[in-house]
Amino acid sequence: MINKAIASVVPYFPKKFVWVFSKKYIAGETIEEAITASKSLNEHGVMVTIDLLGEFITNLSQATKNRDQYLHIIGAFENANIKGNYSLKPTSFGLLLDPEKCYQNIRTIVELAARHNSFVRIDMEDSECVDLELTLYKRLKHEFPKTVGLVLQAYLHRTSKDIDDLMHLHTPDSPLNFRLCKGIYVEPEKIAIKDPKKINENYLKLLEKLLFKGVYVGIATHDKALVKGALELIKKYNVPKDMYEFQMLYGVTPELRNSIVGDGHEMRVYVPYGKDWFGYSTRRLKENPKMAQHIIKSIFVK
Ligand code: FDA
Repeated sequence: MINKAIASVVPYFPKKFVWVFSKKYIAGETIEEAITASKSLNEHGVMVTIDLLGEFITNLSQATKNRDQYLHIIGAFENANIKGNYSLKPTSFGLLLDPEKCYQNIRTIVELAARHNSFVRIDMEDSECVDLELTLYKRLKHEFPKTVGLVLQAYLHRTSKDIDDLMHLHTPDSPLNFRLCKGIYVEPEKIAIKDPKKINENYLKLLEKLLFKGVYVGIATHDKALVKGALELIKKYNVPKDMYEFQMLYGVTPELRNSIVGDGHEMRVYVPYGKDWFGYSTRRLKENPKMAQHIIKSIFVK
C-alpha cells in the first residue's frame, strides 16, 4: 500500500532528490564519461549497449537533434574501439509525432552502425508504442537483415503471438535477434500480466520458445530465478554460446553479473548516459518503490 502511494508521487520528486538515486545507474552526462564507463566494463569482459537518455519528445526538431547525437555517438564509440552496440527509444525520434520521420531518423542511425558492422537494438516502450515499434522493426530489418534487433516484454499478454507472427522473418540470411525483458512500464491488467510469479512463468515460456526456434536472445534480467531458469533452458537445448547473451543494466546487481561472466557466458551491460536522466530514473523508482523509501530515509533520517 505504502509502495503504491510512493510510486504515484515519484514523478513529482524534486530532481536533485532523484539524482541521489540515479547517479549509480547512469554512466554520466557526457559522451566521454560513457566511453570511460564502457571501457572499464570491456576490460572486465563485458560488452555494452549505449543508450542516450531521452524519450517522448514533443517536437520534431528534438528528433533531428537526437538523430545527430546518435550519429556522433557511433563515430566516437567506434573510434574508441568499444566492444558494444547501440540501443535507442523510437519516441526520441518522433514515433508518436510522425512515424515516417521517425523511421527516416532511425534508418540513418542503423545505416551508419551497419557501415561499422555494428548493431542497433530498438527498445520497446509502453503499450501505445508496441504496434508502431513492431512495424518500424520489420521495415528496418528488411533493409538491414542482420544489424537491427528488437525488445520483447514478457509482461504483455500479446508477446507470444507477436513472436509467432514474426517467425516467418527468421531466415539464415536474416536471423531474428531479440532482447527479452519483463517490461518496465505501468500497464493496465487487460494488457499486461501483473502477478510477478506469472510474469516470470511467461518469461521462461517465451525464452524457451525463442531458444527452441533458434532465435538469438539477449536474456535481460537481474532476477536470480530467471537466470537459473535460463541456464537450465540453455542446457536443455544445448544452446551454443554464440546464440544468446545475458544483459543487465548499468550499476545493477554487479555480483550476479560477475558470477555469470565468471561461468563463461557472454554479458552485455546497458549503459545509459546523457543530461536527460530524469524520465529513466523515475521509471525505475516507480517500478521499485522500495528504493524510494530508502532514499527518503537516507535523506530525512540522519
Ligand atoms: P526484478 O525487477 O525482479 O529485479 C531482480 C532484482 O534486481 C531486484 O530484486 C533488485 O535487487 C535488482 N534490480 C532490478 N532492477 C533494479 C534497478 N533498476 N535498480 C536497482 N536494482 C534493481 N524494459 C522495457 O520495458 N523495455 C526495454 O526496452 C527494456 N530494456 C532493458 C534492457 C536491459 C539490458 C535490461 C536489463 C532491462 C531492460 N528493461 C526494459 C527493464 C526490464 O523490463 C525490467 O523492468 C528490469 O530489468 C527489472 O526486471 P528484472 O528482470 O531485473 O527483475
